[in-house]
Amino acid sequence: MTQTTFTPRVFSGIKPSGGLTLGNYLGAIKRFVGMQGEMETVYCVVDMHAITVWQDPKELANATREVAAGYLAAGLDPTQSILFNQSQVSAHAELGWIFNCVARVGWMNRMTQFKDKAGSNAEKVSLGLYAYPSLMAADILLYHATHVPVGEDQKQHVELTRDIAHKFNHDFKVDFFPETTPVIDGPATRIMNLRDGTKKMSKSGESDMERINMTDDADKIAKKFKKAKTDPTPLPETYEGLNDRPEARNLVEIYAALSDMTPQAVIADYAGAGWGQFKPALADLAVAKLAPISSEMARLMDDPAEIDRILATGAEKARAIAEPILKQTYDIVGFLRS
Ligand code: AMP
Ligand code: TRP
Repeated sequence: MTQTTFTPRVFSGIKPSGGLTLGNYLGAIKRFVGMQGEMETVYCVVDMHAITVWQDPKELANATREVAAGYLAAGLDPTQSILFNQSQVSAHAELGWIFNCVARVGWMNRMTQFKDKAGSNAEKVSLGLYAYPSLMAADILLYHATHVPVGEDQKQHVELTRDIAHKFNHDFKVDFFPETTPVIDGPATRIMNLRDGTKKMSKSGESDMERINMTDDADKIAKKFKKAKTDPTPLPETYEGLNDRPEARNLVEIYAALSDMTPQAVIADYAGAGWGQFKPALADLAVAKLAPISSEMARLMDDPAEIDRILATGAEKARAIAEPILKQTYDIVGFLRS
């Protein structure tokens, strides 16, 4: 079989379920914006993924606009990138079904995120939550995306996407779907919870003190960093000195990602410093970086009609790529169409 060359294209998405966190900003949005101009970029608000757990319908629309506002406020340019919400492009659901018939139950059973989320309650969670990684593969492969920037927690899902593409190509004897590369780089691929450095910072943690929200004001940010769990030891002389100090390492990595420095350079600047010195410096840095973004988000959210227009235009551009790929997939599968 001759090897098809695929045009480099980026795809990634964020769920509109609860507010955006510093983890989403540093692990995803900031990096998405950085890839603009390097290659074609397609960014999505994945509302169909959000409903794998219950979402209040009135809040879902608002949360969808808020994620879009977060992307735009952080520098995503809708004339350079395609920005849309998933449910406006029905091809995602259609390819998702085909992939449900390609993916094996044994593969889904290995997904650690499902195991974590379902926990001991696996009988009661939605079927959608279980099938979610197959829809995620459809999101990516519908655009023949070659690069998928994500945080560390999504690595296994991108690997599953590769398995699905490979099995589809193999079963139908085609070279149709590309091999996707997960792009997981920089100091912020896994930002941890501020109260427990062994858990990921997430939108849905029990206490608001565990996370920094992109919309937190300066006082809240300062208070959360001040109360962040640390150990009593000052900052080490070398980066290796952060081994086995998860909370300390997390704060250094947040500082590095916010300031576009390496964690090693941060350690060089703060070697031997106590938390009473480092935490206020980190809070000031976070406020300086996040305040302009959160005020721009608030400005955008005052004009929801404008956000809706941007998403509608993006959806139209997305469909122009997705629909021909879906049609070809239907032909490969043998679906009759007139
Ligand atoms: P989600 O909020 O689960 O839809 O995640 C959207 C994107 O943000 C994905 O690429 C995640 O990997 C990334 N992300 C979410 N939380 C974190 C975190 N704590 N650290 C780094 N990246 C994260
Ligand atoms: N599953 C991702 C998350 O929870 C969100 C997502 C859905 C995604 N579709 C995607 C990420 C496609 C990258 C590419 O964070």
